[in-house]
Amino acid sequence: MAERRPRRAAASNKTAIGPMARLSRRSLDETNGWHFPSSQRQSDDGTSENHALKRGSGKRRGTQRKGRQASPADLEKIAPYLDAGENRADRLIEYLHRIQDHLGHLPAHLLVALAERLRLSAAEVYEVASFYHHFDLVRDGEVPPPALTIRVCESISCGLAGAETLIDSLQQAVGDGVRIQRVPCVGRCDQAPVAVVGTKAVEGATVERVTTAVEQGDYSALPPTAARDYQGYRDAGGYRQLEALNASPDDEQIDRIIGILENARLRGLGGAGFPVGRKWRIVRDYPGPRLMAVNIDEGEPGTFKDRHYLERDPHRFLEGMLIAAAVVDVERIYIYLRDEYANARALLQRELTSLRQAPPCTLPPIELRRGAGAYICGEESAMIESIEGKRGMPRLRPPYIAEDGLFGRPTLEHNLESLYWVPEILDKGADWFAGAGRQGRHGLRSFSVSGRVRRPGVHLAPAGISVRELIDEHCGGMADGHRLKAYFPGGASGGILPAALNHLPLDFETLQDFGCFIGSAAVIVLSDQDSVRAQALNAMRFFASESCGKCTPCRIGTAKAAQLMARVQWDRPLLEELCQLMQDASICGLGQAAPNPLRCAMKYFPEEF
Ligand SMILES: Cc1cc2nc3c(=O)[nH]c(=O)nc-3n(C[C@H](O)[C@H](O)[C@H](O)COP(=O)(O)O)c2cc1C
Ligand code: SF4
Ligand code: FES
Repeated sequence: MAERRPRRAAASNKTAIGPMARLSRRSLDETNGWHFPSSQRQSDDGTSENHALKRGSGKRRGTQRKGRQASPADLEKIAPYLDAGENRADRLIEYLHRIQDHLGHLPAHLLVALAERLRLSAAEVYEVASFYHHFDLVRDGEVPPPALTIRVCESISCGLAGAETLIDSLQQAVGDGVRIQRVPCVGRCDQAPVAVVGTKAVEGATVERVTTAVEQGDYSALPPTAARDYQGYRDAGGYRQLEALNASPDDEQIDRIIGILENARLRGLGGAGFPVGRKWRIVRDYPGPRLMAVNIDEGEPGTFKDRHYLERDPHRFLEGMLIAAAVVDVERIYIYLRDEYANARALLQRELTSLRQAPPCTLPPIELRRGAGAYICGEESAMIESIEGKRGMPRLRPPYIAEDGLFGRPTLEHNLESLYWVPEILDKGADWFAGAGRQGRHGLRSFSVSGRVRRPGVHLAPAGISVRELIDEHCGGMADGHRLKAYFPGGASGGILPAALNHLPLDFETLQDFGCFIGSAAVIVLSDQDSVRAQALNAMRFFASESCGKCTPCRIGTAKAAQLMARVQWDRPLLEELCQLMQDASICGLGQAAPNPLRCAMKYFPEEF
């Protein structure tokens, strides 16, 4: 039986009261064997220092180091995993990756040495390492996990394609020397079911394909061969919009560019749909220095459009990113890429090197950061915490990150696809993009379609298209033998609509009255052979596993709802009470949206209960 992924540890928030405080203490007790002191940091000269924990400042609370000390041997062992020059606490997750990649796990004693080298408390390093699913903490005396892990996606589209049977058969097929792990969506839903052997994705996974991949023995991921490289992009006229901007980067030019994006009605495509041009004006109006963060976390089950574009034409997005950086005048760019996209990471590393070697203009520093298996890090403020080297826990707002974001600075944050369209809109004009909608909507949307259709994949279609039109015109119709029963219009969190509502325009705002939203435009199609309540349960288990634990309504609510939904009889009044609480009192979109699929299942599919 494959192991279930551990539920995220509760926040160790010292000001918490009630159940939060109890859970916090329990999670600290769970550090048993680590003997960690509370948050401490040593000053340069070895004397104790009191740093107020200033959110966004990158600084951490600290007094004199107590508790377990690193041995000289461990301090020596940790050195190769650190940077040659300056070691930065904000790069903690990168250092943890290096250790995990090399050793296959994170030994406790090395983390103590890492903490000492970074002048962080060991508790802080533990908190971060234990927050992210892709790190395996191993205490002294514990047995490390097997050298090879196969991650099998258990989210909705893979579930429809037989992931459960695959998981059940795989352990026997590969033996005890390999770990099989259930994981949420790995962003390849059109090729479901999917397994990842080491970092190598096996699409359309069967026991045979996975065991062959294991036997082949090379588990590393290579850059996708179909990608257009730097030279190819330049030969096709790429980077000319950036060059034009750099030739005369005056206020008039900047206003012209923002005006085009506003007229094109380009909206943020990461889920919230905030107008891009307006966001640029807002961030630009805050006093510098400013920073930029690009969101390629793409963890919403059913979504794979960002990977699709990144793996085909990375420089289109990079040009859009550099135009945004120049217009908003940012000092440094951070690209946050989910860890599951190992091929795309190899590609981006290669293409950033080419770009730096022959840049079309002076480039700002660009840092590529690697997520570590935490859906919540797609939420913009959680992502910022993660880039700062902390647990990915959303911040309370206000202040908004446009004013007080990364390291306390005004921050422009964008989804990859929002930037991807910028060069083409500047090339072809605002009307080209704005004129593309249907049913009074404007623009193009990249729908990640998966489930029971003939041609799943990323389909570029007018905003406002209905699911019926999307399936018929872009997906080749329903899969053979399947009749449309329901669809998720916006991934796991966007709710579930019945076939009777297959005419609704898919776009921002239009689905709210029906208890749904389009979000990142991940459409998962269910048929008469599927159980909606089973898929709603799948979604709730995902939220329970990915809740960061910061606030009680979400942490307890998602877990409790998943428990209740696993029963044969649903206690619908109690579930509705829980939904209301999660929606009203959760800090961020995860907890607020978690009730959507559950409520839709009860409202639109009463025959299943
Ligand atoms: C739980 C949660 C997960 C999110 N995941 C992502 C993500 O993976 N990628 C993304 O671009 N935005 C994600 N978002 C939305 C971001 O918070 C933010 O609105 C978006 O990145 C802004 O960029 P845009 O204006 O270009 O859309 C998520 C939001 C929530 C609440
Ligand atoms: S709603 Fe959930 S994910 Fe968001 S901050 Fe609260 S506990 Fe974390
Ligand atoms: S890859 Fe399995 S659901 Fe997305």
